[in-house]
Amino acid sequence: MAHPNLPRHIAIILDGNGRWATTREFPRTRGHEEGLKAVRLSVRACRERGIQNLTLYAFSVANWSRPKEEIDGLMRVCLEFAQTEVEECVRRGVAVQVIGDLDDLPTPTRRAVEQMVEATRDGKAMTLALALSYGGRRDMVNAMRALAARAQAGLVIPEEINEASLRGFLTTSELPDPDLIIRTGGEKRLSDFLLFESAYAELFFSDVLWPDFDEPVLDQALAAFSRRQRRYGRTGDQVTRAALP
Ligand code: IPE
Ligand code: IPE
Ligand code: MG
Repeated sequence: MAHPNLPRHIAIILDGNGRWATTREFPRTRGHEEGLKAVRLSVRACRERGIQNLTLYAFSVANWSRPKEEIDGLMRVCLEFAQTEVEECVRRGVAVQVIGDLDDLPTPTRRAVEQMVEATRDGKAMTLALALSYGGRRDMVNAMRALAARAQAGLVIPEEINEASLRGFLTTSELPDPDLIIRTGGEKRLSDFLLFESAYAELFFSDVLWPDFDEPVLDQALAAFSRRQRRYGRTGDQVTRAALP
C-alpha cells in the first residue's frame, strides 16, 4: 500500500503482550515471545514502505520493577531477537542503534545487542533504534547533568544553552524527532517515551494487542498520519498557503 506523506520517523510503544498471554491463560512471558514475531513484522513492513527511522520501545526504566521472572523472559527474548535478526538486518541494510542504558542489561543480552549494532553499522536503508532500559525523564536528566558538568568546567556558557545543545546529549541525538508515535494495547499515554522529542509528534492509538500487530494496523496508522495537518503553532490557512507552489 503506497502512502503519501510518509513519516520520516515512526516510534512504536509496543504494549499488550501480557494481556495477550493472560487472556489465553499463558504465562506473560509467552506474550513477549509472541510479541517478537510482531517486532520482526514491523521492521520488515516499515522498511518495505520506505520508512527511514523506526524506534521500538521494548523495555522502559520502569519495567525493571516487574517480577524477576518476567524481566528474565524479556531479556531472553531481546537476546534472541539480536541473535536471530542480525543477518537479516545486515542483508537488508538496517542499521541498529540503542537508546537508553544498555549497561543496565544482563551481560549476554547486552553483548548480543552490541554485536548487532556493530555488525549493522553500515546499513543505509533504515535505522532501527531499540529503546532498552529507556526513560525519557532519565535521558533528559542525564543530558542536563552532562551539560552542567561542562558548564562547571567552563566549556559551556549557561546563557548559550539551547535546544540543540540539550539534544546533543540525549541518547536520541542521532535520530530525527518522531513524526508518528503508535501505541498498541489500548492505553492512551506515553509512559515516559521520547518526552522531549515527541513535542510535535502525531499520536496514533490502537486497541490491537502487540502480538496481533500486523500490516493493516500499520497502514491504518500511516493513512491517519497522511490526513493530519501539522501546524506547529501556525494557523491552518498559513500551512495551506505555505504548501502552495
Ligand atoms: C509490552 O507489553 C511489553 C513491555 C512493556 C516490555 P506488556 O507486558 O506491558 O503488556 P500488558 O500491558 O501487561 O498487556
Ligand atoms: C510502556 O509499556 C513501556 C514499553 C512498551 C516498553 P508499559 O506497559 O510498561 O506502560 P504502563 O506501565 O502501562 O504505563
Ligand atoms: Mg503494558
